[in-house]
Amino acid sequence: MFVTTRQIGPCFAAEVDGVDLTKPLSEEEIAAIHDGMNRHAVLVFHDQPLTDEQQLAYTRSLGEIEHAIGTSLRAPDEYRLPTTFADVSNLDKNNRVYARDDRRRLFAIGNRLWHSDSSFKVVPAKYSLLHARSIPSRGGNTEFADMRAAYDALDAETKVEVEDLICEHSQIFSRQQLGFFDFTEEEKERFKPVRQRLVRTHPATGRKSLYLASHAGGIVGWPVPEARAFLRDLIEHATQRQFVYAHKWRVGDLVMWDNRQTMHRARPFPVEEPRDVRRTTLVGDGPTVAQAV
Ligand SMILES: [Fe+2]
Repeated sequence: MFVTTRQIGPCFAAEVDGVDLTKPLSEEEIAAIHDGMNRHAVLVFHDQPLTDEQQLAYTRSLGEIEHAIGTSLRAPDEYRLPTTFADVSNLDKNNRVYARDDRRRLFAIGNRLWHSDSSFKVVPAKYSLLHARSIPSRGGNTEFADMRAAYDALDAETKVEVEDLICEHSQIFSRQQLGFFDFTEEEKERFKPVRQRLVRTHPATGRKSLYLASHAGGIVGWPVPEARAFLRDLIEHATQRQFVYAHKWRVGDLVMWDNRQTMHRARPFPVEEPRDVRRTTLVGDGPTVAQAV
């Protein structure tokens, strides 16, 4: 079968037909998927009843897996899934829904702010692959913003201003915006800021993108309030509706996105309902700026 991509309405994302992700893919199919990612930045595969092993095998066929170690407030003995997965569900290790005031849940609410996965790591993520095992009765959409289009739409003066700026990213900055301040000393050390370029050039297409996230809490050489106001304006600009695709989940959907070219955010859903979505992630090629790993 041939892999085909079909653009979703007028937006940048595309649906993919003609591929069964439960089976090993041919080189041609893998190349077609990378091509589709380069072009669309978000690809949607419907009706893929993947097991964990199949999701891992598919992810590995595209590149090297990024492990999720120490990036949430789950303690090592509280992991529900192996570290080859980022567990972005609302479930504890016994598959019980987190209580409303559970600290791990409140930290994870940070995912409702616009972000790019792992921008708080020295080597940030390339692709994320999110698979829906169970979804809530309403809400819980994931929204994606096209950061290439957002860059293209900047005025010439702003393009010059942002070109060489370096931002500082930390999960502490995104959580502070939601009033989550109670980090332990160990967590403050673990979530220390890293530096990322504000403008990235895609290695395959040569297109420029704004590399933004709510994790960005400063610009090197700028006073903090001025930097945060500037970054907030850029995020507002980049998430105007014409740049956004909202994905309404069905069980069995696998959605892939390129974190170098997009931002995304989760939307709220009923607190007592399980949302079992499992993310695998590909590591990026390297740091976006020189810094200690
Ligand atoms: Fe995310």
